[in-house]
This record gives sequence, structure tokens and C-alpha cells, in this order.
Amino acid sequence: IIKLLAALILGYLLGSLNTAVIVGNIYGTDIRSHGSKSAGLTNTLRVLGKSAAVLVLAGDILKGIIACMIGLYIGVYFYSGEAKECVSLLAAGAGAVIGHNWPVYFGFKGGKGALTAVAVLFMVDWVMALLCLGFFVIIVALTRYVSLGTICATVLFAVISFIPVFGNTLYFYIFACLMALMVVFRHTANIQRLLSGTENKLLF
Ligand code: G3P
Repeated sequence: IIKLLAALILGYLLGSLNTAVIVGNIYGTDIRSHGSKSAGLTNTLRVLGKSAAVLVLAGDILKGIIACMIGLYIGVYFYSGEAKECVSLLAAGAGAVIGHNWPVYFGFKGGKGALTAVAVLFMVDWVMALLCLGFFVIIVALTRYVSLGTICATVLFAVISFIPVFGNTLYFYIFACLMALMVVFRHTANIQRLLSGTENKLLF
């Protein structure tokens, strides 16, 4: 349990390096005061443009991957030796998403965690990750709402986690529900805007 806590905390400290806030600072602005006020990729693209967004994209993916590698290195397995059964990997990955959303270095005001969660999911199970990413692309292409695409892909992730063919374990179910709840919860304002018809299409 100490090792699990260590994985969670290390993941959290790494995830707290919110790339959108850091890149925003470099560009001389606080991304959390502009656009949707979210410190994430979509809002960076919206407010600061493509080059800033590429930095955020790389940073968020990288920190998700590094967090998982730390979790793998700590190496607490409750079942077999498969990556997705490495509970310290799941803990570090979840920690990174929590850190991204509530960063300790930036007043606990961060983003929505979707991109970091996708990076973590690719490390855990790339087939599930590809399915969710594909679904996200289809929903965004059809509706032009990034937030709707993210929410639908997150719900899909939670649902398919329970399909036996993926061979998931109890710890994975807990991880999947926690990640999905977190991402959807962070989209509360987007859901309200979607319902009232005032959500931003694609970017603007
Ligand atoms: O992953 C974030 C995206 O789904 C919505 O971002 O900035 O439009 O609230 P935003």
C-alpha cells in the first residue's frame, strides 16, 4: 500500500506540471482567464494558437507516459505481470490526471484531464485507447463539439472496460470509473452549455 501511495503521489506531482499553464506563462498570459478558462489543449489552441497547442499536446502526452513508467517501475501487481494489471501503474496514471486537473503548483486550478487520460490509456491498453480516440474523432467530425466528443469517448471507455473480452480486473474497473467520473465531472460547465445550446463549436 505504501508503494501504491508513492505511485499515486509521484503521478500527482508530475501531472501537476500543467503544460497549458506553463506554456501560457511563456506566452505571457494565464490561459485560465481566457476562452473556456480551462488549462488544457483545446483552450490553448483556441486562445494561443497552433504552436502553443503543439507544446501542450507533447507535454501532456509525455507526462502521462512518464507517470505510467514510474508506476511500472514501482511495480505492484495484484494479479499477473501484464501492464494493465500493474496497480501502481494505474495509480500513477490516475494521479497524473488528478494533478493535471487540480495542480498543486498552480492553485489547484487546472484542466479537464482528457488528453493525459488518453496518454495513460495508451500505456494501459492501446486497443481500448484507439477505440475511444476513434469514437472521439467521429463525434467531433459529426457535431463539431470537442467537449461532446470527449464526454462520449469517456463514457465509451467506462462501458467497454466492463466487456469481458478486454480481460479487465477489479482494480481496472475502479480505475476506469474513477477516470471517467473525473473527466465527465470536469466537463460540467460544457454539459450545461451543450444543453442550453451555447457551447463553442469545434474551437470558437
Ligand atoms: O478536453 C477538453 C475539451 O473536451 C473541452 O475543452 O476548453 O472547450 O472546455 P474546452
